[in-house]
Amino acid sequence: MFHLHHWFTAVILAVTLDAVSGFWILTQGQLVTERLDPIVSPGKVSSHVHTFVGSNGVSSQPESSYSGSCTTAGVTADMSNYWAPQLYSYKGGKFDSVPLSFVNTYYLNRPGATSEIKAFPKGLKMLAGNAMATSQNPDPQLASAISFMCLDYTNGSEQYGLMPNRSCPQGLRLQVTFPSCWDGVNLDSADHKSHMSYPIGPHPDNGNCPSTHPIKTMTLFYEFVYDTSKIDNTGGSSLILANGDMVGYTLHADFLSGWDTNVLQAAVDQCTSDLYNNLEACPPFKPYIDRSGASSCTTSPKVDEQVLGSLNYLPGCNAPLNGPLKGLPANPSCSGSSTTSTSSTTTSTTKSSGPTSTTSSTSKPTQTNPSKIVTVTVTVTSTVTFTPSPTPANISNKKKIKRIPVRRSA
Ligand SMILES: *[C@@H]1O[C@H](CO)[C@@H](O)[C@H](O)[C@H]1NC(C)=O
Ligand SMILES: *[C@@H]1O[C@H](CO)[C@@H](O)[C@H](O)[C@H]1NC(C)=O
Ligand SMILES: *[C@@H]1O[C@H](CO)[C@@H](O)[C@H](O)[C@H]1NC(C)=O
Repeated sequence: MFHLHHWFTAVILAVTLDAVSGFWILTQGQLVTERLDPIVSPGKVSSHVHTFVGSNGVSSQPESSYSGSCTTAGVTADMSNYWAPQLYSYKGGKFDSVPLSFVNTYYLNRPGATSEIKAFPKGLKMLAGNAMATSQNPDPQLASAISFMCLDYTNGSEQYGLMPNRSCPQGLRLQVTFPSCWDGVNLDSADHKSHMSYPIGPHPDNGNCPSTHPIKTMTLFYEFVYDTSKIDNTGGSSLILANGDMVGYTLHADFLSGWDTNVLQAAVDQCTSDLYNNLEACPPFKPYIDRSGASSCTTSPKVDEQVLGSLNYLPGCNAPLNGPLKGLPANPSCSGSSTTSTSSTTTSTTKSSGPTSTTSSTSKPTQTNPSKIVTVTVTVTSTVTFTPSPTPANISNKKKIKRIPVRRSA
């Protein structure tokens, strides 16, 4: 359990566009970290560990998110879930979970030249980035949808397309921009991507929608900020994503919309200034703001295995895929079946093939330093060595989610 003691009030984006009509930020503390992915692996244990924020109804079944009793989002009309891979660091033969400082989920109002912005329909599922990538995306627009911001107030913060091979004393931000053009029909698709598209043009976060995906939504941009103050990643020798990627090709994130669409649509229409996280300045949010409920919102993990603290192996069947640790084994007694659940993540991101946008505006997250990093302490209840069961971990598909028994050895 953790408490977010101070609200983060930093400015991250330089908003310089005519086409931009404001944004708000939901600053969220960690909700739960476990091997789940209700979009890619519904009803199952997922292949690697994710850190979740949002509705405490989150489970392996997407529908349960909507009936949570609280949310870390700060607005109770938002029962969405937001997730990204957990970050680990390797030292002295152990994989240590890197503490999550906080998450910023940006809602960017970028209508493009022609379209008005529609609220995310309830149940919309989105995936950005490619968890199975083995190289940087050759398409510059898709490559720039993921990035890594190394926060270093002494020597200068810098943004990278891949994991920074250096120390980031004020934190490492994993950044993901989501597609913002919807086909208007499907809440999901077989690859979880093709019902959505990035806008036309070079920027993942701005531009007009292609005719195949004509409905413009808010542009979601995530920052998962990890506390790397004690980690030296010189030579890329320590930081590793939960799926075993040390280089950073596979950074990805997910969104499951659980918004009250009327509230979200009213906010989209009325709250078009730069609100940062001053949600109180957005009248449609006012009846739903609950910051203390957000800081105390918790849930217990549904998958019964240790994924935080000091581990002998990455949870699941994940060996280091690349970088200096390539060659180290996965847990020899890992549960093999769970890896099959990633098969649907391999397809490439839908990209508009429409004509080049005439929009000349550019917008990128800038390297402006946050004024303050709020450190959230994730309490690790035990440092017991994790030895997973030789049988696959499993999740009950029954309405009431049972904890998944995974044997631990002391
Ligand atoms: C900044 O760079 C200098 C020279 O490379 C190095 O000695 C110092 O440790 C760095 N400071 C931080 C905070 O990383
Ligand atoms: C870090 O090093 C890896 C090689 O291990 C390299 O592929 C990658 O480009 C480097 N990352 C950056 C941001 O330069
Ligand atoms: C998971 O549980 C379901 C329902 O209890 C069962 O049918 C299935 O065989 C189990 N899968 C594994 C891999 O244990």
